[in-house]
Amino acid sequence: ADVVVYDFDVSWVYANPDGLANRPVMGINGKWPVPPIVVTKGDQVVVNLKNSLGNESTSLHFHGLYQNGTNHMDGPVGVTQCTVPPGNSFTYNFTVDQPGTYWYHSHNKGQYPDGLRGPFIVNDPESPHKNLYDEEIVLTFSDWYHDFMNELLAGFISISNPSGAEPVPDSSLVNETRDLSVKIEPGKTYLFRIINMGAFAAQYVWFEDHSMSIVEVDGIYTEPTDADMLYIAAAQRYSVLITAKNSTDANFAFVGSMDQDLFDVVPDGLNPNVTGWLVYDDNMDLPEPKEIAEFEPFDDFTLVPDDQEGIYDHVDHSVELTMKMDNLDDGANYAFFNDVTYVSPKVPTLYTVLSTGPNATNPAIYGSNTNQIVLAAGEVVEIILNNDDPGKHPFHLHGHAFQVVYRSDEEAGAYDASVTPSSSFPSTPMRRDTLLVHPNGNIVIRFRADNPGVWLFHCHIEWHVASGLVATVIEDPLGLQKQLNGNIPADHLANCAAGSVPTAGNAAG
Ligand code: C2O
Repeated sequence: ADVVVYDFDVSWVYANPDGLANRPVMGINGKWPVPPIVVTKGDQVVVNLKNSLGNESTSLHFHGLYQNGTNHMDGPVGVTQCTVPPGNSFTYNFTVDQPGTYWYHSHNKGQYPDGLRGPFIVNDPESPHKNLYDEEIVLTFSDWYHDFMNELLAGFISISNPSGAEPVPDSSLVNETRDLSVKIEPGKTYLFRIINMGAFAAQYVWFEDHSMSIVEVDGIYTEPTDADMLYIAAAQRYSVLITAKNSTDANFAFVGSMDQDLFDVVPDGLNPNVTGWLVYDDNMDLPEPKEIAEFEPFDDFTLVPDDQEGIYDHVDHSVELTMKMDNLDDGANYAFFNDVTYVSPKVPTLYTVLSTGPNATNPAIYGSNTNQIVLAAGEVVEIILNNDDPGKHPFHLHGHAFQVVYRSDEEAGAYDASVTPSSSFPSTPMRRDTLLVHPNGNIVIRFRADNPGVWLFHCHIEWHVASGLVATVIEDPLGLQKQLNGNIPADHLANCAAGSVPTAGNAAG
């Protein structure tokens, strides 16, 4: 295994990815799009983050990595670290012991849609699919806003937006552009690693006249499964095999199409699609794509993990969370778990764990706004999430890939074990780190508390992180103290003294 070092100096640079608005975006080392992180399973990764933004604090999170033994490198502000203010630095240093397709992004106050988001790829010399493809290609899909997140967030959570209508993206991007051609050689098989790095919109993704075979979701290898079209919610990833045609008679479009059901109002003139091309021959036309209605999206609940890991068949600790959106006394719209909207604590929750000795197992010490869930070492945990809202929400758990043991259709209401007993759950459930719950439906997930840490569980729509749709999982706090007490680096703690710029509102993300 190697030590792979990235020096990331984050600053504002100008970009105009959709050709409609030139704007400052958060770049790295003077460039945007930001570079991918590409490592091999087993590598130690060191990211030296320097904040040269001047006017905003920041942080980095490595989405989907378990950070086993390194919870303090996970990145969410108010959870495992303080913000990194302008002029300061922070070194992330961790070992990656899991293969697959991930991404990294700012985890401070809804900031990543301003551009601080990139792929994180972990190559695996022992992948079960290694011999099935010739080359790999990373495709990111993302929604794009012309305005700064700071300004959009201020309008979103305000008395002038009592319904909580989320700002609608201005465009959809592929690899942060609207002008992507992918050179294809006849007869070769490609592994496309597809990442939704968006803030809000799920994307329908299809390749015209080419079929996909899904082999990985969210870092978990799957039994190869055919699909005509993917539905990729914000933060989810799919790796698919695509075999090129044997001839060079034509080029083919591929499309990412934003799910407009998520938008309260679809603005006139919004183009929800971004098109790229599989180019077999540079001299041939780039055809327009067909209509979306010709495809059926794939249901990820039917996937089976390649390792055939069985369902946890007993549960030690069951947690039921009911989410809804509603107004508080200030007239603005917030999001709630069990009637509590998350407010980012001033002291990161990890530091509270480390400073409270045996009291760290007492949920009450984490205050009344963190939606804290304290787990004992080794227990099998089940989270039942009931969506008391007519929207779709992609839920993400840090530090784990969870078993997806149940997902209802929309309008099913709260989970009811007498109607859907655990005996009806799949024996080898899919595992992933981000799962969509349907409108007014429910999901049931399971995982083992074998990774001491403070891990967020939240909707990955950035608007909803900001409005409080966040819970804090405090996993084996006493084990965490043994791992990390005395081991928090000085550069981490130095940032806490400096405070956040601009000052924090409700937002955690
Ligand atoms: Cu992609 Cu809380 O993270």
